[in-house]
Amino acid sequence: MQELTPRQIVAELDKYIIGQGEAKKSVAIALRNRWRRLNAPADMRDEIMPNNIIMIGPTGVGKTEIARRLARLAGAPFIKVEATKFTEVGYVGRDVDSMIRDLTDIAISMVRDEHTEAVQERARELAEERILDLLIPPVKMPAADYVPGPGFLMRPSPETNDDVEDATEAEMRERTRRKFRDMLKRGELDGREVEVEVASEQTPMLQVFGPMGMEEMGVNLQDLFGNLGGGKKRKKRRMKIEEARKVLAQEEAQKLIDMDKVTKEALERVQQSGIVFIDEIDKVAVRSAGSRGGADVSREGVQRDLLPIVEGSGVMTKYGMVKTDHILFIASGAFHVAKPSDLIPEMQGRFPIRVELKSLNEEDFYKILTQPKNALLKQYRALLASEGVEIEFTDEAVKEIARIAAEVNEQVENIGARRLHTIVTTLLEDILFDVPDNLSGGKVVADREMVHAKLSAVVENRDLSQYIL
Ligand SMILES: Nc1ncnc2c1ncn2[C@@H]1O[C@H](COP(=O)(O)OP(=O)(O)OP(=O)(O)O)[C@@H](O)[C@H]1O
Ligand SMILES: [Mg+2]
Repeated sequence: MQELTPRQIVAELDKYIIGQGEAKKSVAIALRNRWRRLNAPADMRDEIMPNNIIMIGPTGVGKTEIARRLARLAGAPFIKVEATKFTEVGYVGRDVDSMIRDLTDIAISMVRDEHTEAVQERARELAEERILDLLIPPVKMPAADYVPGPGFLMRPSPETNDDVEDATEAEMRERTRRKFRDMLKRGELDGREVEVEVASEQTPMLQVFGPMGMEEMGVNLQDLFGNLGGGKKRKKRRMKIEEARKVLAQEEAQKLIDMDKVTKEALERVQQSGIVFIDEIDKVAVRSAGSRGGADVSREGVQRDLLPIVEGSGVMTKYGMVKTDHILFIASGAFHVAKPSDLIPEMQGRFPIRVELKSLNEEDFYKILTQPKNALLKQYRALLASEGVEIEFTDEAVKEIARIAAEVNEQVENIGARRLHTIVTTLLEDILFDVPDNLSGGKVVADREMVHAKLSAVVENRDLSQYIL
């Protein structure tokens, strides 16, 4: 996936996000530049800095969505933080590093999932064998149980006799096993119960609180003390084979994957392709150099805290040191009041690329409702289809929804494409409530008249629309 060209990246983003061509272009270049960097000569590689971006635009026009989709395209660990979070009481000057630790956690589980996926087949087989062992335990025939059969006297010698018995015994067991294995594979035994020994869920007897600062150092006391008990406790649980399959496959998969390798790969991935999305950056920009209150100081403080991370530094996580030099930072904000130039100069320097996202109009809304892979109307169609109800939105109805969204945005408050959510949920509320009790199967047509009937009263009453739409 990493090898997508800028044009291909934009084409992929186009599948989900309408318009905003400039922003798509910028992020596509930034993403491709990382790949270019990795393929540059080693001595240059560390010199090339990521193209951190500031996205400027009103609320609900696709800023977060673009960054999120980009990360998914790249298979990159992605985290979204609000810059304002760090101005909160108790946060100031503290724990900006936490975003890198969280990002690392995300990378770890991402890589672990991939590795688990790769051993899934083998884990399933092993789990099946373990279930077989439970069904047909490997029994040793106790000597006391041995009862000589009628042919006893004819047997040449006791030793060979034993061998023969063992052989047929083993053979029979093998045959039974095979039979059961086939049944197991066909799922015929899924309803049966077995007793499985599983690692007991960790319920810590006491919560361990470290001294302040331990968390920052990435030291997990729970992990340190957790092992003092001498390995994981195991306990027996009865469950259906169907469930046992999953539980045991998971356990086997955990044994098969090499956590050291996962950790190494995850750290590498965070450092080389991690993406941090810092939302509401404008809220920590300080407007003027004039009289400064405490709030301004704390906002500037947040920028100063962010700076080392954005500039590139080492952050200690519980998996090891993470260097932030090549993590891509995308900051975003409406910048209604403050301007990017109100950020401290060092910060501005670290975000050389500025892109503006446009506010969305009626025509965009029409497309957003219908075109993206995850378009809102497609989502509701799928929801209702799960109950056997087909819903069709006529073209005129969609146009009307788009028109109303634009109108309410203009008259009440511009919340961008988020308006479509509130409008469509209001529109469909009755249908969603009636299915399946009063309305099951069949087809519903949402046409212009229906949109009018459901929405015009709300739209015309400004007080009402403030609350509902
Ligand atoms: N251009 C667009 N095309 C398709 N869907 C969009 C577009 N813009 C916004 N949306 C949809 O609207 C919702 C909000 O968008 P998003 O989260 O990207 O807003 P934002 O620009 O980050 O706003 P904020 O500044 O409030 O964070 C999402 O569900 C997204 O799918
Ligand atoms: Mg956002």
